Amino acid sequence: MTEVKQQFSLTNEAAIDALIAQMTLAEKIGQMTQAEKNSITPEDVTRYFIGSVLSGGGGNPEVNTPENWAQMVRGFQEAALKTRLSIPLIYGVDAVHGHNNVVGATIFPHNNALGAARDPDLVRRIAEATSKELMATGVHWDFAPAVSVPQDIRWGRSYEGFSENTEIVTKLGTAYVQGLQDSKPRIMASVKHYLADGGAEWGTSHPPQWITGNWQAPTGNGKIDQGDARVDEATLRRIHLPPYQAAIEAGAVNIMASFSSWQGTKMHAHRYLLTDVLKGELGFNGFLVSDWMAVYQIDRDYAVSVATAINAGLDMVMVPYDYKTFIETLTQAVQSGSVPMSRIDDAVRRILRAKFWVGVFDNPFGDDSLLAEVGSAEHRALAREAVRKSAVLLKNEDQLLPLSRNETIMVAGRGAENIGLQCGGWTIIWQGDNGAITPGTSVLGGIRKALESGAELVYSADGNFAGEELVPVGIVVVGETPYAEGMGDNERVTLLDVDKEVIARMRRRCAKLVVILLSGRPLIITDQLAQADAFIAAWWLGTEADGIADLIFGDAPFTGKLSFSWPRSIDQVPLKALQESAEPPLFPLGFGLS
Ligand code: GLC
Repeated sequence: MTEVKQQFSLTNEAAIDALIAQMTLAEKIGQMTQAEKNSITPEDVTRYFIGSVLSGGGGNPEVNTPENWAQMVRGFQEAALKTRLSIPLIYGVDAVHGHNNVVGATIFPHNNALGAARDPDLVRRIAEATSKELMATGVHWDFAPAVSVPQDIRWGRSYEGFSENTEIVTKLGTAYVQGLQDSKPRIMASVKHYLADGGAEWGTSHPPQWITGNWQAPTGNGKIDQGDARVDEATLRRIHLPPYQAAIEAGAVNIMASFSSWQGTKMHAHRYLLTDVLKGELGFNGFLVSDWMAVYQIDRDYAVSVATAINAGLDMVMVPYDYKTFIETLTQAVQSGSVPMSRIDDAVRRILRAKFWVGVFDNPFGDDSLLAEVGSAEHRALAREAVRKSAVLLKNEDQLLPLSRNETIMVAGRGAENIGLQCGGWTIIWQGDNGAITPGTSVLGGIRKALESGAELVYSADGNFAGEELVPVGIVVVGETPYAEGMGDNERVTLLDVDKEVIARMRRRCAKLVVILLSGRPLIITDQLAQADAFIAAWWLGTEADGIADLIFGDAPFTGKLSFSWPRSIDQVPLKALQESAEPPLFPLGFGLS
């Protein structure tokens, strides 16, 4: 048994015993029900004793401001407190790189970028800043950190993983949990997605075979997201389990189950891994939450799905739409005996423990005094520091960088003036988007601020500049159009043709060429690398791209080191193919020029 940090107080255990003794079955099952905010009214939160409400990616109030977020969340909490026992709900969001659904919030680099920074203290400080912006809006639960260990960069969630390397993920995932939970305000982390979400094989996620009634076929797109990890148990434990063990020892009280499968069995139905290993062997005494509609994927018969998931060890179900049917179905399962009351009581105990521990019984609402921290200069400076520390210099021919500030500089590329692209997925809306989606500084904006008055700066997104003369320095900013989850599964992890064309066009016009790549993963860039004098992997870096200007003009050194191997060609994808390849990768894990 792992030595688990006993973060639950015995007085609360007594209070929980007293509460459970009074609770009706409806009140208990209500605690196990999580509904998404567009599908439930505050009145139904009261009527059905709902334990949690969430905003899915982009689940924003009508007018997306921090104040309106706080008001929206307060409305649901007030409804929960009107119940007979006045058990507060806990509101959850995906704040995976800052409070990223909220316009005006500070958006930090995604986890794959933070992996390249290799700085647990930085990650802890980012989580602390995020917890303040969350508490400003009354949100006590963050569905983060993902402690995925992505083994195939074709996966659309690779960027949510800190690294392909288990040790890096373990260190940074733990730091994130500590940053959310160990400082004031306390936010409950959700360590996800258990287990081996990053270990699925390409082609194993189920294409939607059919959708009948409520039964939701596995929604994988037939590629890799939500697929099957076909590894033996030793490999499963060696690569994917350590981040959870460390997170539990660090005091994690919530873990989210993965859509994916192991050896053909859905994680949401996997009693051995959810209960015997996680709650037994690792001593996890918090609660397990399902992923979005994941329970439907277990069986065509919803009653079988619900009973299987709860008996396997799930404690709360992110339904998230049809909470009434879920409640009816679980009630019938208990009444028929297919789910024992002891399992219900155990689930409720785990949920109430977490609610006492996170503090919603004492302070069910947010802290309006923190609204000034949302998108504050201090938080943006922290994000800028993270950008500086996570960018990786892959090439710097003849020490082209740092550039002087009074050069004539030509800037091109669709990522140069594109806050949405530089932030990537999970930003304001689920999939993210191009354009000025939230306040921030673009790469071009950072360059413009850094140049001295004597310098000349010209910009054209497509690189079609007037004239023929050669200009001294060109900077091209290219990258991946934002995506999230299976929408980002991509067999061709290469640059878009439009980006290749801009690079080639700028090569012809500039004496020296710097390429900056804003992506959620390594891409096949072997040809473009040869065309560039300097090449920077800047990742989906968030709202504070002046951190890039700091680096290219020498205000800060490049220190980033790749946390993912960089394949030379598609033949070196996935990681297993690269490790078996006769040729070395384009750049190995840990590479980075300074
Ligand atoms: C999504 C994701 C999960 C997220 C949840 C709520 O489908 O898999 O990471 O926390 O639903 O948005």
